[in-house]
Amino acid sequence: MARDPGRVLIFDTTLRDGEQSPGASLNLEEKLAIAQQLARLGVDIIEAGFPFASPGDFNAVQRIAATVGTENGPVICGLARAARGDIKACADAVAPAANRRIHTFIATSDIHLEHKLRKSRSEVLAIAPEMVAYARSLVDDVEFSCEDAGRSDPEFLYQVIEAAIHAGATTINIPDTVGYATPAEFAALIDGINTHVPNIDQAIISVHGHNDLGLAVANFLEAVKAGARQLECTVNGIGERAGNASLEELVMAMHVRRSYFNPFLGRPADSTSPLTGVRTEEITKTSRLVSNLTGMLVQPNKAIVGANAFAHESGIHQDGVLKNRLTYEIIDARTVGLTDNRISLGKLSGRSAFRARLEDLGYTLEREDLDDAFARFKELADRKREISDRDLEAIVSEQVQQQSEARYGLKLVQVSTGTNLQPTATVTLSTSDGAELTEAAIGTGPVDAVCRALNQLARVPNELVEFSVKSVTEGIDAMGEVTIRLRHEGTLYSGHAADTDIVVAAAQAFVNALNRLLAGSQRPSLHPQRTPLSVGDLPPAERPRL
Ligand code: KIV
Ligand code: ZN
Repeated sequence: MARDPGRVLIFDTTLRDGEQSPGASLNLEEKLAIAQQLARLGVDIIEAGFPFASPGDFNAVQRIAATVGTENGPVICGLARAARGDIKACADAVAPAANRRIHTFIATSDIHLEHKLRKSRSEVLAIAPEMVAYARSLVDDVEFSCEDAGRSDPEFLYQVIEAAIHAGATTINIPDTVGYATPAEFAALIDGINTHVPNIDQAIISVHGHNDLGLAVANFLEAVKAGARQLECTVNGIGERAGNASLEELVMAMHVRRSYFNPFLGRPADSTSPLTGVRTEEITKTSRLVSNLTGMLVQPNKAIVGANAFAHESGIHQDGVLKNRLTYEIIDARTVGLTDNRISLGKLSGRSAFRARLEDLGYTLEREDLDDAFARFKELADRKREISDRDLEAIVSEQVQQQSEARYGLKLVQVSTGTNLQPTATVTLSTSDGAELTEAAIGTGPVDAVCRALNQLARVPNELVEFSVKSVTEGIDAMGEVTIRLRHEGTLYSGHAADTDIVVAAAQAFVNALNRLLAGSQRPSLHPQRTPLSVGDLPPAERPRL
């Protein structure tokens, strides 16, 4: 990658930092579906995961590298702590990608050195270049991050960065790990690096930032003005704690305010060349896919992708927009792919029309998945006269969420409920070893009765911490989407499903969450930022059991 890319590179970390959000863990098929959509969106780099974390994480990065990391596709990147074991696993996982990157990091703030790493500044100053050089011996494209750069002593930061570039780092990432910086401070930090690191012209400056004070996007935009040319962000801004800088907000800020940002990239203010490589019309679809698969709901008033982002409630606004859209709108909803939700198919549509429409929407399903999705479509078409693109998207994301190796499948759900009736549910689950189990339960309402019956079958302690229903489209026959989050031993697991019957959707979402819980509690992963660095040097068999 050139030192000056001539535009701002979008480094998407939805599958790594985003997946570190509580309850957002994804299975292999879900990660692949998101990676494919990120490639369609046109991001430059996909951080596909932390391969050393577990065999499952390794496989996911490797599969993404093999399927999405094509010659003209995005760079596929993996995260590695500054330890040989991590870096080797990362190199192996990204190997199948035509364009691959290792992203290695170590903390540079005194607070992290003292309490987390228990290392001196001189030790960190030795480890960073040694590990960058090792990564460079395995791949040509190496990114180095100074974790907690936002709270690091700038003089020490300059030394570490200079050493990392000297050892071969091609991108230097400056994370505001705890979301502490303000926009002017963050710009000053980037400016200082540009001025005081003698070899900085040999690397791209990148920024990464968390949203603890709601300032991540503002900080990044100031960083661009100060010379940052790579932005690390996530779809819908998901990520650790308050999340990361939101991809859609960054991209649209630079799209809408292009003439303001152009001069900072050395272009004439009226240049019409895009500032990023993102296809903005894919934004809405990507946002929905990520929300459905991670179970992380998007707040209605969220900029760009919230349900209300383009809605005009007040009469004065509606009147103004009808006279001239520009009175109250700075973005045409079509720019982010918010279309009129075209009616695409009906009861009589056949398999090839179904497949063709899915392909138009950007989804290519394998034969078996296509068969299952078509069966779902037919069932839906019996109940709903017109099937829209949004319905098809809901069917596909549900298809992806049904894990092939899932412990339970929902076979039957029946409820009796109403006034003067005790809500009662009967559910039947099929198990991965071919058995069928049935239970009945009563509850305070039909959903409660269903969840109780499912819990009696699954017998894993859990607490329902979130239950939300929203309608996929308008109209009385619309499908309802249910998102559920369960807590088990302090960890959150989410499930999502859609159906015209919300009790059925709730049952399926609960089963999806239970399956994730069962899979996740059996396959614990290392957390990249909270696991002692020394664990990175151990071969898998000698790593501590979690
Ligand atoms: O927030 C952070 O510092 C990170 C690094 C691993 C880049 O996620
Ligand atoms: Zn982060």
